[in-house]
Amino acid sequence: MSHIPVMLPEVLAHLRPAPGETHLDGTFGGGGYAAAILETGATLYALDRDPAAIARGAALLARFPGRLHLLHARFGEMLAAMAEQGVSALDGVVLDLGVSSFQIDQAERGFSFRADGPLDMRMGREGPTAADLVNTLPERELADLLWELGEERHSRRVARAIIAARPFATTLELANIIRRSLPRDPSGLDSATRSFQALRIKVNDELGEIERGLDAALRLLAPGGRLVVVSFHSLEDRIVKRVMQNAAGRAPGASRHAPAALTARAQPAGFQLLTQRAERPGDAECGANPRARSARLRAIARLGVA
Ligand SMILES: C[S@@+](CC[C@H](N)C(=O)[O-])C[C@H]1O[C@@H](n2cnc3c(N)ncnc32)[C@H](O)[C@@H]1O
Repeated sequence: MSHIPVMLPEVLAHLRPAPGETHLDGTFGGGGYAAAILETGATLYALDRDPAAIARGAALLARFPGRLHLLHARFGEMLAAMAEQGVSALDGVVLDLGVSSFQIDQAERGFSFRADGPLDMRMGREGPTAADLVNTLPERELADLLWELGEERHSRRVARAIIAARPFATTLELANIIRRSLPRDPSGLDSATRSFQALRIKVNDELGEIERGLDAALRLLAPGGRLVVVSFHSLEDRIVKRVMQNAAGRAPGASRHAPAALTARAQPAGFQLLTQRAERPGDAECGANPRARSARLRAIARLGVA
C-alpha cells in the first residue's frame, strides 16, 4: 500500500525549492512531495490533520534531521501553526487536496464504497462522523448536501432512500442503498461516488479548509514566494481559481479578450499567476496512476525579489 504523488514534476517546477529556502507542505500524506522538496536542500514544515500520516513520517524525519518539521495540524490553521514555530514568511507553500490512497485503502477509515468499514470518513478523527450525518440530518438538508457537495442530480431521490433505510453503521450498507435508489450510470461510474464525495467534504469541512488555507498561504508568502495547489474536483478548483485570480487582480470570469483596464484592478495586485489556466497531468501519468486523471494544478507567486 502506498500513495503515488500526483503531478510531482509540475509541482516542483512551480515551487522551485532551493537550499536555504523555507517551504510548507500543508498536506504531507505519504510524504512524496515532502521527500522531493527536502532532496533539494530546502527546509520544510509539513502538516497533516491525520495523525496516522504524521506517524508514517518518522522515517523521513530520520532521513532529513533538522530540516523536516512535521506537525499534526490542519492547513486552515497554518498561520497559528507557523507562528508557534516562529516562522513568519515562507518561500513556498504546496497543497495537494483531498484524501490519500492510505486513507481510501484502509477500509476501517470508512472512506471507501468498495470495501466495508465503519461509516466514519474523518481525516482528523475528531468531530461528527459520516454516520452521524446520514443518521440524523433532516431529509431536506441531506438532499441539499448531496446536491451541493456531490453534484448529485438525483439528490432528493437518494436522500429519500437514505431516510427510509437508516440508521446505517457501515459504508457498504449505505453504498448499496444509494446504488439501489439510482439508475445505472451510463459512464460506468459507481452511483455511490457522488454521495460519498459529498459526505466526505462535509465531514471534514474541506471547502472551508481550502478558503482558510489559501488565505493564510498568501499572507505567509515572502516576496518572490510561490503557492502551488493540486485539486481533484471542480468544487475545489473553483475556489482555488477564484482566490488566485482575485489575488492577482483579475476579475473572476473576465474574458482574456477584454481590454486590460477592464480586468485589472486599479491597485497593483502584489501577486502574479504562474498558471494562466489549470495544468493537467499528461496521458502517461494518467495511465500509470488513475487517481491523477482528475488533477488540476494552479500556481501563483508574490511579486518582488526574495
Ligand atoms: C492527497 S494526500 C497528499 C499526498 C502527498 N502530496 C504525497 O505526495 O504523499 C492529502 C493529505 O492531506 C491531508 N489533508 C487533507 N485536508 C487537510 C487539511 N485541511 N489540513 C491538513 N491536512 C489535510 C490528508 O489527511 C492526506 O493525508
